[in-house]
Amino acid sequence: MSWTRATRYRHYCEMTEVEEQELLEIVNNSIWRQKFHIQPPYGLLNDPNGFTFYQGKYHLFYQWFPFGPVHGMKHWYHVESEDLIHWQEKGLGIAPEYEHESHGIFSGSGIVKDDLLYLFYTANKRDQDWNRESSQSFTVMDKHGKFTKQEEPVIPKQPEGYTANFRDPKVWKNDNIFYMIIGAERENHTGCVLIYKSVDLRNWSFEGELKTNFENFGYMWECPDIFQIDGKDVLLLSPQGLESEGDFYQNVHNSGCFIGSLNIEEYSFQSGGFQELDAGFDFYAPQTTQAPDGRQILIGWMGLPDITYPADKDMWANCLTIPRELYIKNNKVYQSPVKELEEKRGSLTEWQGKLSKEEKYLENFSGKTYELVCNLKVEDGTGGLKLRTGKEEETLLYLDTELQKVVLDRSNSGEPVAVDYGTIRQAAYTDNKISLRIFVDTSSIEIFVNDGELVFTTRIFPQEESQGVKIFADDTEVSWDMKKWEYGD
Ligand code: FRU
Repeated sequence: MSWTRATRYRHYCEMTEVEEQELLEIVNNSIWRQKFHIQPPYGLLNDPNGFTFYQGKYHLFYQWFPFGPVHGMKHWYHVESEDLIHWQEKGLGIAPEYEHESHGIFSGSGIVKDDLLYLFYTANKRDQDWNRESSQSFTVMDKHGKFTKQEEPVIPKQPEGYTANFRDPKVWKNDNIFYMIIGAERENHTGCVLIYKSVDLRNWSFEGELKTNFENFGYMWECPDIFQIDGKDVLLLSPQGLESEGDFYQNVHNSGCFIGSLNIEEYSFQSGGFQELDAGFDFYAPQTTQAPDGRQILIGWMGLPDITYPADKDMWANCLTIPRELYIKNNKVYQSPVKELEEKRGSLTEWQGKLSKEEKYLENFSGKTYELVCNLKVEDGTGGLKLRTGKEEETLLYLDTELQKVVLDRSNSGEPVAVDYGTIRQAAYTDNKISLRIFVDTSSIEIFVNDGELVFTTRIFPQEESQGVKIFADDTEVSWDMKKWEYGD
């Protein structure tokens, strides 16, 4: 199918039943559908939005273009869960209705006030010359799941000095005052966030830029988020236009955070350097919420803008990551899979062994959806795991003690993805022991190193038959133990 403006900018209500059935048939035959990740019923998913705990449930939305695997007219799709792992599909959440949102409901966040869930978003419009116009608006969801949308935007356009790349409002409350940060691009094409203030969520005053130590850091800061963990303030961002630096910023766009302190009187955020949050291939636009027990939970988009994926031909694109709990250790944000995930663990198998200058299949191992916990020790050289191995496919995850790196290699994982951005990701690592927690779903791998000190998130598109795991030791000795739990829906 060739996509034109006319086919990309269609509203969900224009979808006929026949069209929907055709889409479902193609999607349901896709060999890459995930088992335990949030994915679109059909069409394209991108950023997580409006992640909030409200009326005893986590509500989560995602950017959705229903008609196919391309970025077109965005809607919000709604899912909810009591435990962060069993998600119920609620269907369409927010759709474009008004003139100022004629080209999509872009990303945003949720906040609860007076027993109502306020969902702030960017209304996206293109004028006749295809120039972008961005405004900020909201809809209110009540406890029956009924949405009442604001007819006029609460912030009609960007302030002087900024371009129309002005989006992704995140709202929070501090001492009875509401604050909103919005991702922005200055007219000199550098990125920043802008701050607004309100006492009622309806009337907002522009307070200026959040002053940071990073005046010149990419051209546009998308999807800002701000929160406190372990007594520190964290500013989460997806800055576009960072140049690669060594192993960092290897993807088309990248996400990460600053840890520092927010001065809400002066609108300043003093921090150390930027920490990239994920060392893998497919991670962008994460958003967090606070759980009722105080944990800060992050979910990201397991995908990237401007990248096509092999499952696109099956008329669906992308999924979200598993939820991760954030904490700070050694002045770094660590990410650990939420503890609720352990409930998904099915039957357990255990292995251990030692191997020297060889590679071996794990006996009786076969599967596409599971969790692995693995401790590895590599003497001098290169050794590790080969995941989703088949006749001609394998995804490598190993330690190279000479280079002092952990390496993820998807050169041979199956159908190629975004090869222009390289097929290897690596991160500095000085020890010869490593502990790994790996979540494998039909077409993704999420790897948590040493309790979440490092994370690699990646999509892979192997053949269905590639279901083995190997341990390998190149010119060295590797000792290991491993536990595997089957994962269901
Ligand atoms: C990030 C992003 C946001 C925007 C949304 C549109 O991936 O570009 O900045 O609101 O996607 O779908």
